[in-house]
Amino acid sequence: MAFEKTPVRAAVVGTGGIITGAHLPALRAHADRVRLVGAVDVDESRLADFLGEAGDGVSGYPGMTEMLAAEEPDLVLVGTPPSLHAEQARAALRAGAWVLCEKPLCLSLAEYDAIAAEEGTPAGGAGEAGVPPGTGEPAACGGPFASVVFQHRYGSGAAHARGLLRSGDLGAPLVAHCQTTWHRDAEYYSVPWRGRWATEGGGPTMGHGIHQMDLLLHLLGEWSEIRAMAGRLVHDVESEDVSTALVRFENGAMATVVNSVLSPDEVSRIRIDCADATVELTHLYGYGNDDWAYTPAPHARSRTERTSHWRTPAADVPSSHAAQLGGFLDAMEKGERPPGSGPDARRTLEFLAALYKSAFTAQPVQQGEITPQDPFYRAMHGEHPDWAPKEH
Ligand SMILES: NC(=O)c1ccc[n+]([C@@H]2O[C@H](COP(=O)([O-])OP(=O)(O)OC[C@H]3O[C@@H](n4cnc5c(N)ncnc54)[C@H](O)[C@@H]3O)[C@@H](O)[C@H]2O)c1
Repeated sequence: MAFEKTPVRAAVVGTGGIITGAHLPALRAHADRVRLVGAVDVDESRLADFLGEAGDGVSGYPGMTEMLAAEEPDLVLVGTPPSLHAEQARAALRAGAWVLCEKPLCLSLAEYDAIAAEEGTPAGGAGEAGVPPGTGEPAACGGPFASVVFQHRYGSGAAHARGLLRSGDLGAPLVAHCQTTWHRDAEYYSVPWRGRWATEGGGPTMGHGIHQMDLLLHLLGEWSEIRAMAGRLVHDVESEDVSTALVRFENGAMATVVNSVLSPDEVSRIRIDCADATVELTHLYGYGNDDWAYTPAPHARSRTERTSHWRTPAADVPSSHAAQLGGFLDAMEKGERPPGSGPDARRTLEFLAALYKSAFTAQPVQQGEITPQDPFYRAMHGEHPDWAPKEH
């Protein structure tokens, strides 16, 4: 396929903290396969700073429509505030570009399904075949697709742990803890779009703990039931500043989840106790292999060959945007649905919607019960009178 000789032409939308600090280095790490050609920001000085940082060959645009028309990019990386993601992802897909969008991809299941409706046909599916990016040639290939940034799935530590859990090497998963206990002060919430459903999409459940919860689901598979609580204990915000949940998984495992922006001693942690070992990840905003620990059960301790296999992934790839972009570009080359898209990423958003529904209604919520008729399908606050914005 000519694709290898013709780099993917990429554009970024939003040139703030995450695009400059994480997406630009990721693009540079894959410079042999992808070339940045366009950048969009409504803030002229941010755009100028970014263009200075990005180097030659990148054109700046004040709006996405102009950029899509002028550059016809193969790939659009979206790093704007959350309330803009859904419309920008849909516009890029309609223009034929693949999308890698910052979390949260959108603010509701309704928005998620509207984005999915703009995607192309999966490879092997019915309908017109897609065009492999960069080739200009029709082929038995799908796309474009929209994927969400969940960079913690793609480090070697997570890939290795998932393989061990899925193969049964650690024994049956039984008990899990998923903790995002961070600290954000009043100054953080003085920015007008923060803490509001319409602009941030939720509190630490949607904005901070989403990464750890996504990784928990990525490791443990399908969940079946959730019982949750949420509170507004400190900050003057519409959404929650803490949430907690009890979760049952289809494989029988039971988990606790805590999402907080009220915790002076900050940590991100996932711990899964299996029949033969405990696997535990402790970090803050990103991990390497050394942040994963494996503790064998007493009956497994003498089997040193097995336990040393647990502790040694083949490579040491930190969790990063670069790691995710590599897999995304692989999927583009093959015309396949990329990781972190479709039903796989929808599962995480449904889990968050269910957490909010259970917390606000004080009822357990089953996987699959939030259908388009449910108010929690359309908004994470579910129009609940104690939580939906008053002017809503
Ligand atoms: N994956 C992660 O670990 C991670 C970490 C931080 C932030 N994020 C996510 O990244 C996104 C952006 O966060 P940030 O911290 O970079 O914010 P930011 O405010 O630094 O950057 C956002 C940029 O978007 C620009 N913008 C606003 N409206 C626009 C429009 N209509 N068109 C084009 N540009 C527009 C702003 O001018 C700004 O430069 C959020 O969704 C956030 O949740 C993800």
